[in-house]
Amino acid sequence: MSLALDVRHTDEMAAGELAELRDMLVDCFSPRYDESAWAHCLGGTHYLLRHRGQLVSHGALIPRHFEQAGRELRGLYGESMATVPNLRGRGLGSIVLAAATADILMHHEIGVFAASKYHFYERLGWLKWPGETYVVAADGRRPAAPARGAVMYRLPPGSTIDPAGDLAADWRAGDIW
Ligand SMILES: CC(C)(COP(=O)(O)OP(=O)(O)OC[C@H]1O[C@@H](n2cnc3c(N)ncnc32)[C@H](O)[C@@H]1OP(=O)(O)O)[C@@H](O)C(=O)NCCC(=O)NCCS
Repeated sequence: MSLALDVRHTDEMAAGELAELRDMLVDCFSPRYDESAWAHCLGGTHYLLRHRGQLVSHGALIPRHFEQAGRELRGLYGESMATVPNLRGRGLGSIVLAAATADILMHHEIGVFAASKYHFYERLGWLKWPGETYVVAADGRRPAAPARGAVMYRLPPGSTIDPAGDLAADWRAGDIW
């Protein structure tokens, strides 16, 4: 396969490229990719894998604030990880996830995905967060868990973050995790 990985911030993508990405994600997540999912996918770094120019796999990492025991954590949150249906199971998603994971490990304190395809992430060293999860909202901190799947995480080597402890994410409209 002739593959090329393009890593770009949302702001660096032209309107036509964003439209192409959105169409691809609607197709990949059919029938449940709505306005909220698209809004959550914007404002960060896109890992765009192309085969002969055609977008075949994508993942985004969005900067978000997390906290544990009053400590603010500089984190990246994974969104819209998907491979086009006819090319799944050939390692394309793993190329995207490996590149995104490397950036988390080099530059951030934690990476988080809310995911249901556990094995896909676990093969690349991601684990389910075993502790409690919360959201920090205007009216305070309250328990919050993903609507589907689990909170999965990656920590850089030597991290002092405790996966057995609590993990809180900043509030956002739509799904918190
Ligand atoms: C989850 C998803 C992104 C994976 O993308 P993908 O391109 O199929 O990922 P890969 O091919 O790298 O890995 C998928 C499986 O194929 C297997 N695989 C990878 N390369 C392979 C190869 N050359 N030959 C055979 N199998 C292979 C992997 O072992 C992996 O198995 P696992 O998931 O049980 O660990 C894709 O299934 C998808 O888009 N799903 C719909 C959208 C979605 O639900 N996204 C969110 C997931 S929480």
